[in-house]
Amino acid sequence: MENQNLQALVADAEESLRKVSTQSQWEQVKARFLGPNGGLTHFAKGIASIPKEDKPAFGKSLNLAKGKIEALFQNSLSKLQELEDLKSLGNQVDPTLPSVPSYTGGLHPLTKTKRRILSIFRRIGFTVTEASEVETEWFCFDALNTPDDHPARDEQDTLFFPRESKWANVKQKKQEPYLLRTHTSSVQIRTMLREKPPLRVIAPGRCFRRDTVDATHSANFHQIEGLFVDHSVTVRDLKGVLDFFLRELFGEKVDTRLRPSFFPFTEPSFEVDLKIPDLGKLSNKWIEIMGCGMVDPKVLGLVNIDPKEWTGFAFGMGIERVTMLLHGIDDIRHFYQNDQRFLSQFSSQV
Ligand code: DAH
Repeated sequence: MENQNLQALVADAEESLRKVSTQSQWEQVKARFLGPNGGLTHFAKGIASIPKEDKPAFGKSLNLAKGKIEALFQNSLSKLQELEDLKSLGNQVDPTLPSVPSYTGGLHPLTKTKRRILSIFRRIGFTVTEASEVETEWFCFDALNTPDDHPARDEQDTLFFPRESKWANVKQKKQEPYLLRTHTSSVQIRTMLREKPPLRVIAPGRCFRRDTVDATHSANFHQIEGLFVDHSVTVRDLKGVLDFFLRELFGEKVDTRLRPSFFPFTEPSFEVDLKIPDLGKLSNKWIEIMGCGMVDPKVLGLVNIDPKEWTGFAFGMGIERVTMLLHGIDDIRHFYQNDQRFLSQFSSQV
């Protein structure tokens, strides 16, 4: 009889613990079974009224039941503590879910513009190529038909390395000095020496000039260079490609024009202007956006491409300038200050 009641007590303890979800509930239930007025104590007290010969068996069953009930409580407490620990760690993390962009930061606006520009040109068959930011005077100037006395070569304009410096990974033509490239046009030369036409390449990269920094100039900035060399390429191809590009970037309403200009490495040379009806303060005004022209036959000759067989066009633009126009930014220094109030405005834009 006692045995059956003890088993019922164990089952009752098990059932009661199943409903417990906090440590304070657990304490209450524990008092009900193991406390001084609890069920088990009540049973133990009953030993007094049991015949002497039954006492050992009763004691044994009582100890067995006590052991089982204590184990049940211990087990339940461990589970409760585990739950408490998990709760204090916050929401469970599923590492297989894709990360949330706002927690991982966003791409810099210049990177976004660069990617947009590259993707437009990729769609019309251009391949992305890159070269070193350290360049030599021959690749940056001589091969681009830039005269010896051109002001860009001046030490006031270009950052030269000391004569004794060596950059084993940057090929020199002769023994000419190293410098930090002033434009990405030098990538045209490296590409044409490496690959044979037909060529369609687009080359993004960092450039350096000995400029004092103001709202529109920075000693360090970024450009994208384009080069297209094939049979019978004309200014019409140049205009067609650039019009397509500018419409893709600025929208269908963009108007463009080529304005005669001069660059040592293109003949004829042009500035590209664009006009957009809804561009804030700059609406409906002609704005200069990039330089371009037909690759000068002398440049082709310097990289061993026969100008009688091949013709081409080239263009170059500043990524900062394009980004400033796209987003109405009026100070180039915002790009380099890492101010979250500025950067976070671009975090959700593609
Ligand atoms: N390299 C020129 C600059 O930095 C930009 C440029 C103009 C690049 C005309 C070209 C070009 O490829 O054809 O101002």
